[in-house]
Amino acid sequence: MENQPSDALVFFGATGDLAYKKIFPSLQAMVKRGKLNIPVIGVAKAGWNLDQLKARAQDSLEKHGGLDPEAWKKLSSLLHYVDGDYNDDATYAALRKELGSAVRPAHYLAIPPLLFGLVIEKLSSSGCAGEEARVVVEKPFGTDLESAKKLNTILLKAFDESRVFRIDHYLGKPVVHNMLFFRFANIISESFWNREYVESIQITMAEDFGVQGRGSFYDKTGTIRDVMENHLFQLLTNILMESTPRLDSESIRDEKVKVLKAIRALSPNDVVRGQFKGYLEEPGVAANSTTETFAALRLEVNSWRWKGVPIYLRAGKNLPVECTEILVRLKPAPTMYTDYAIRQNCMRIRISPEVTIAMGINAINPDDETQSSPVELVASHKPDSKEMAPYERVLSDALKGDQTLFAREDYVEEAWRIVDPIIKANTPVYEYDVHLWGPAEVDKNIQPQGGWHNPVA
Ligand code: BG6
Repeated sequence: MENQPSDALVFFGATGDLAYKKIFPSLQAMVKRGKLNIPVIGVAKAGWNLDQLKARAQDSLEKHGGLDPEAWKKLSSLLHYVDGDYNDDATYAALRKELGSAVRPAHYLAIPPLLFGLVIEKLSSSGCAGEEARVVVEKPFGTDLESAKKLNTILLKAFDESRVFRIDHYLGKPVVHNMLFFRFANIISESFWNREYVESIQITMAEDFGVQGRGSFYDKTGTIRDVMENHLFQLLTNILMESTPRLDSESIRDEKVKVLKAIRALSPNDVVRGQFKGYLEEPGVAANSTTETFAALRLEVNSWRWKGVPIYLRAGKNLPVECTEILVRLKPAPTMYTDYAIRQNCMRIRISPEVTIAMGINAINPDDETQSSPVELVASHKPDSKEMAPYERVLSDALKGDQTLFAREDYVEEAWRIVDPIIKANTPVYEYDVHLWGPAEVDKNIQPQGGWHNPVA
């Protein structure tokens, strides 16, 4: 049943920011690939009609990647609109009517998490969440362990787990998706991908811009909730998990959960939080806010393969570059070239803006054989407009019923368990200058052996 394609896509939050920036462009891309041919029903409370929604969609396409006249014509013919309050039963009665004979609608909640519980309960009581309906929920999934558990209880009362799709758009990025392929279709990395050879692992997600008008959302969220317990943990589980016996979604998701289970809950000593100078003046931010716009974490994975290998995660707004990169630093070679400046080998995996897999090695300097020169063996690829954008990939998969790229109930709860103590500990927040690598306290308290690797644009 779960592998039958959905026969309608309903998206709540149709007049919102996410729909404008990501969803309409993804829907158009799906139409262009011939992958969307079902009614698309937008729901929102804006006092709009269908023509106004279409105008908004058209504007969204023009501003985000361009409008394709053929595809837009088709998408426009698939669009429906229900206007109403999410609290009002009449909204769901109108939606039920728009759904017509659809029996496998996918309800995509592109709305603030506070409203998830309400909408799910109403979908269920109005008969819109029939036995084959799916629900797709946006991040952040809850705000801590307790709220995530509550949300899971509400969701699972109306939908069984095989019909729940918790989005983390990072999993839709081609390189993240392909990381398992790189690791498990090649034998080359397996020989050193363990505690015998790896000294430390760093993951940096740097953004060179601030909160971009999302101050009121961001101030309630902060970096740890916004990107660390979801996007960065997904990268982490992809690089640390074991190979799976089969390629089905559950085999893959089982292995990811095992990685998280092996990480103990973090304590205040494992984190340094920062806030960029000027954050307090952002619209929507509380005057005395202590929300972090930067965080650095240290953790360990207590598993046979990784025990004792420190793992460092760092993410922040207003850092020097926009780049997400993983650095796996290997232990020093027991070299006899003691007079040479030999560097530790490392593997660098860049997630964005371009995709790179690079191996840092030592070579003899061709101009001076008494010197070593570090070189990188690089495979790099710049994503082009023909490739699937993350939202296109995850929405297409949800409509197909493929759950591989979505977080399972136990995964989200394990992720929150790990960060729960530090989001409640109220650790100090240190100021940092815009376009520096976070506050100076990071280097004092959370410093990988050999230092942080700062990605360059
Ligand atoms: C979102 C966060 O989930 O991911 C944003 O809410 C962040 O704060 C964004 O900027 C980054 O995603 P991407 O795909 O632009 O790297």
